Amino acid sequence: MVKIVAIVNTKGGAGKTTTATNLACQLHSEGDSVILVDLDSDQGSASSWSAEQTAEDTFPVIRMGKNIARDLHKVAKGYDWAIIDGAPRVDELAALAVKAADLVIVPSTPSPYDVWASNNVVDIIKVRQEITDGKPKAAFLVTMVIKNTKLSKEVNEALASYDLPVFKAKTTRSVSYIETAKYGGSVIDLGENHPCAIEMRQIAKEVREYFL
Ligand SMILES: Nc1ncnc2c1ncn2[C@@H]1O[C@H](COP(=O)(O)OP(=O)(O)O)[C@@H](O)[C@H]1O
Ligand SMILES: [Mg+2]
Repeated sequence: MVKIVAIVNTKGGAGKTTTATNLACQLHSEGDSVILVDLDSDQGSASSWSAEQTAEDTFPVIRMGKNIARDLHKVAKGYDWAIIDGAPRVDELAALAVKAADLVIVPSTPSPYDVWASNNVVDIIKVRQEITDGKPKAAFLVTMVIKNTKLSKEVNEALASYDLPVFKAKTTRSVSYIETAKYGGSVIDLGENHPCAIEMRQIAKEVREYFL
């Protein structure tokens, strides 16, 4: 059965596309079959990323819209993972992604503005969980942490008020995410000892733990 992970936050710039593309690459590199679903029709989404891809060993990236509710299972059948790069703004699409998902990851930078803006998507998740007895599972992922600051500790306290788990792993703010995205790559390309490659491995490991 395909495991569906939706990266959703109706706030733009929270790290959805970066998380979705890097997580998809990481799971693919671990030998799993992956399909990446782009619900984000804006520029700078997973589709634009895949258009730059130069690697030979890749996986499909497809665009979907409201048809995700009806067609995702057909499209993702036979894959180990479907990773959804969630829509910005459009609440209806965000709700459909949450509905389709087994696990929702809500990326948020340590900025209080991002934490407050997550309110919207947390509501969508909670409403869904009430109807379905807890499905999908959901957790925050803190992104673009600036090293050697207290922000990430403070953001954990702020996020705690939402009553959703928070990934232990985080992404730090690094030019490596931007540079590897430019050619449709991922931080894995920088070698297994690169700090960003290590953080993506940890994120993928935690994602897997939600499905044990
Ligand atoms: N960990 C990171 N370090 C540095 N820049 C990042 C990181 N994650 C994302 N970015 C950059 O921040 C911007 C927003 O990230 P993106 O993944 O596109 O967010 P979203 O899809 O939620 O709008 C992009 O320009 C991206 O390259
Ligand atoms: Mg995006």
